[in-house]
Amino acid sequence: MTSQITLQRPDDWHLHLRDGDMLRAVLPSTATHFARAIIMPNLVPPVVTAADAVAYRDRILSALPDGSTFEPLMTLYLTEQTDPDDVAAAHASGLIKAVKLYPAGATTNSASGVSHFDSVRPTLERMAEIGLPLCVHGEVTDPNVDIFDREAVFIDRILDPMRRSTPGLRVVMEHITTSNAVEYARSQDDTLGATITTHHLVINRNHILSGGIKPHYYCLPVAKREEHRLALRCAATSGEARFFLGTDSAPHTDENKLLPCGCAGCFTAPNTMSILAQVFEDDCALDKLEGFTSLNGPAFYHLPVNEETLTLTKGNAVTYPSHVETPDGPVTVFDPGYDLNWRVT
Ligand code: DOR
Ligand code: ZN
Repeated sequence: MTSQITLQRPDDWHLHLRDGDMLRAVLPSTATHFARAIIMPNLVPPVVTAADAVAYRDRILSALPDGSTFEPLMTLYLTEQTDPDDVAAAHASGLIKAVKLYPAGATTNSASGVSHFDSVRPTLERMAEIGLPLCVHGEVTDPNVDIFDREAVFIDRILDPMRRSTPGLRVVMEHITTSNAVEYARSQDDTLGATITTHHLVINRNHILSGGIKPHYYCLPVAKREEHRLALRCAATSGEARFFLGTDSAPHTDENKLLPCGCAGCFTAPNTMSILAQVFEDDCALDKLEGFTSLNGPAFYHLPVNEETLTLTKGNAVTYPSHVETPDGPVTVFDPGYDLNWRVT
């Protein structure tokens, strides 16, 4: 029985760090285990310009624990006013590794996102030319579409037409939650990648709604039926290069999670690697964990694999804090609902 596994150091290809006190509180959880992360730009106000991204990167670097070599990979938030020349300059300088597309109104701080997809076509065409990836929050915002169908409908109505009209554009389908997304990703060429979160490998919609409402399991896209969770498990553990880890670790204070209209997001940064080792072991796929966490993402982003390693050891149940404290109150750490036996050593 395997009791220790050493991986090339993992990266997180979709992470929310927020700003200020929250940034300082949550950053160490990621920086302890991960070498790099794609940093989401949905601050208030959003990270729209290269100057915004430089300033945000500096705040992240100043919040790092002493001695940490964690590298934030910056993104710009795509708006209908985005200037393709600015994006190209930010990419040429090495500042940004992707641009993020939020359909306006789809999720937290997405109000400045895109409503008219034709209006961003010049930017997408320029990105295709220069090889800059587009990270996509793939849900339609049409209130007539059931929330559990919004990802599948987005693929048909928006994503597929967008990719057909912008050949060569490198796209990441972020935090996929359905078998429809897995099948679409598998049917496309290598300009399409897909990230999968830790929590969508663990929970289905029953975990949120059955036996009482569980706000800490509410995120967007919302977890779907069990058959979709199983499709995600198969994709993540398959070893296929197009699937890689993007935790979408999204901290909110408990106060903001537990409101009558609570925020979407699961905070998984502290225990993601322990959970993933367990998931991959349960699916007899520990040998595929390194591809998912450490190799497939760099290959898609055309970045080198990290040189350092990370070792996980199996033993007695791991203890991890149930909360991370911030001056605005605690942030609850995602609870997979079972003991974890793999610890980062
Ligand atoms: O659950 C989510 N939380 N999904 C998102 O798309 C945004 C994120 C956040 O920023 O809190
Ligand atoms: Zn996110």
